[in-house]
Amino acid sequence: MALQAASLLPSAISIHKEGKSNASLKETSLFGVSASDYLKAEISPLLIGNKEFRRKLPVGPIIAQTATTPAISQAPPEAKKTLRKGNVIITGASSGLGLATAKALAETGKWHVIMACRNFLKAERATKSAGISKENYTIMHLDLASLESVRQFVDNFQRSGRPLDVLVCNAAVYLPIAKEPTFTAEGFELSVGTNHLGHFLLSRLLLEGLKQSDYPSKRLIIVGSITGNTNTLAGNVPPKANLGDLRGLVGGLNVLNSSPMIDGGEFDGAKAYKDSKVCNMLTMQEFHRRFHEETGITFASLYPGCIATTGLFREHIPLFRLLFPPFQKYITKGYVSEEEAGKRLAQVVSDPSLTKSGVYWSWNNNSASFENQLSKEASDAEKARRLWEISEKLVGLA
Ligand SMILES: NC(=O)c1ccc[n+]([C@@H]2O[C@H](COP(=O)([O-])OP(=O)(O)OC[C@H]3O[C@@H](n4cnc5c(N)ncnc54)[C@H](OP(=O)(O)O)[C@@H]3O)[C@@H](O)[C@H]2O)c1
Repeated sequence: MALQAASLLPSAISIHKEGKSNASLKETSLFGVSASDYLKAEISPLLIGNKEFRRKLPVGPIIAQTATTPAISQAPPEAKKTLRKGNVIITGASSGLGLATAKALAETGKWHVIMACRNFLKAERATKSAGISKENYTIMHLDLASLESVRQFVDNFQRSGRPLDVLVCNAAVYLPIAKEPTFTAEGFELSVGTNHLGHFLLSRLLLEGLKQSDYPSKRLIIVGSITGNTNTLAGNVPPKANLGDLRGLVGGLNVLNSSPMIDGGEFDGAKAYKDSKVCNMLTMQEFHRRFHEETGITFASLYPGCIATTGLFREHIPLFRLLFPPFQKYITKGYVSEEEAGKRLAQVVSDPSLTKSGVYWSWNNNSASFENQLSKEASDAEKARRLWEISEKLVGLA
């Protein structure tokens, strides 16, 4: 079925019938742009929701847990000890997953959401259209593509005197058809600079505040992605995530001293995004190893599903943006709405059954959560340690 579905995009994509992971892309042109340039990284998540196709996938074993549905559960019994609302910072809450999560949490009346956004007006409009009540949110300026802005945000948040109970590192940029790299304020390639380094500094600076929280369950969540995991079909579609020996990162991800890519290779916007997601998942595990026991903080990552309608795909050509949602919705049935994905992330924020630390959460077709398995590279402890140490230097913490 999914294979038939793929054929509905004639000459754009061909997937090997055996369901092998090396999906190939024929060169073709849509609106004058090479299809493989913009479709190669995205099409396989479309197929993941299809049962027949999934049966054939060469994915590693998945550790199924007792399934839990993504209702935003009642607070655990211990929560009754505290009368105050939980405070959660969500980066990139002005659209997509971040906004849907903010809405889901705010609606419970048990959470105050600090929406950490780079565009105040956009965020304010988004809260209005989502119907989030004023008493349930605060918008604070944060541009993750500037370390100075990250420091300023942390300073402003700390001055507010508000306790911090959960931090959600959600914001991301994805530049799949960029031909040339663009850079953050400090000169790091934009995808890794924003999605990884900005969040790395933010979470390091906010860790102390999280530690001090008296909330029943304090959590630090970094949103991951299937596309960074090479133990999945999606993760095997070129360009694959690969941090190599981190030589580009050591050089500062700029074009002066090094390559803009972590592995030292040629710039590729789709790969840079996938690499940044591997960094997100490695960072979560390194946090867990270094701080879980000492602090009691739950560190978690997740793949919320393929949310075809979000702004993440805004840099794609119009035809992709037009075809992507209906293809997934009606053909592969792998579509996850923003609302559903928001409930999933809200579950990782607040559900008392998801307190296990160091876990990468995913959901099955019945929207039940399970502990998923990360790829070899995304669970490489030695790489995570090196990534941590190099990142510390780049953001000025070491
Ligand atoms: N969509 C999917 O299928 C999918 C699948 C797997 C994982 N994810 C992950 O889900 C997360 C959210 O993505 P999304 O799909 O919801 O995309 P989205 O709608 O584009 O949301 C991304 C958010 O990040 C913000 N952002 C970008 N650059 C920023 C910066 N420099 N500083 C502060 N905020 C910045 C954006 O702000 P503006 O509104 O100002 O642009 C926006 O609010 C990402 O981590 C992504 O990797 C998404």
